[in-house]
Amino acid sequence: MIITIDGPASAGKGTLAGKIAQEYKLTYFDTGMVYRAVGIETLLANVPAEDEVVAERFAKELTFSKMMDLAQNPSFRGPEGGKRASIVSAFPSVRAALLKMQQDFYKNPTFADGSKAQGVVYDGRDTGTVVCPQADIKFFVTASAEERAKRRYKEYQTKGITSSYEEVLRDIIARDKRDSERSTSPLKPAADAIILDTTHLSIEEVFEKAKEIIDSHQKNLAI
Ligand code: DC
Repeated sequence: MIITIDGPASAGKGTLAGKIAQEYKLTYFDTGMVYRAVGIETLLANVPAEDEVVAERFAKELTFSKMMDLAQNPSFRGPEGGKRASIVSAFPSVRAALLKMQQDFYKNPTFADGSKAQGVVYDGRDTGTVVCPQADIKFFVTASAEERAKRRYKEYQTKGITSSYEEVLRDIIARDKRDSERSTSPLKPAADAIILDTTHLSIEEVFEKAKEIIDSHQKNLAI
């Protein structure tokens, strides 16, 4: 089974993906990591993320294990990593170079310990439209920009990342704009995606809704 979860930054995709993966024994690919990895490489190389030639080279050289190593960088999950990821992800050459790595994952789904998985949950922006358009179930998870900024601000506080709510909101709005307006794979729901607006829902409520949809899909397959 392949499930894709797309949507804007901080809409709750990662939390939902983790819960679905655990419930249905699927492996999980957070595809934002590939763009964050390239963004961190530009940071480490001390070049602006806007340098497409360098970003494309890093994208072409990226491997799964290199990405996991780069994820240890303290800026990887912070505002700098997010901003650089959003900038490099707007380059069609970078997206093209990173596509195969994301698609290879569903062809041979494994857990971190190397054992075989029954399927994959993807989370990202274009996993249901470009990475895996043949997915069994596609979700598009969204929430208001203010609610998403509140969530990300809280997350930064628990991680000890210094930022104000206003800064986080500004950053979210800027990222939404960049992610939605880019020419290749702009952020938009797949035609057959199920939209989940999480603005007024708890994590448990979102998970219950998703579970109902997955269970009914599986029941239909069994008939
Ligand atoms: O989900 P995230 O915040 O880790 O994503 C970081 C950036 O990567 C985001 O601003 C847009 C980009 N991204 C993308 O373009 N396509 C994806 N499938 C996932 C992320």
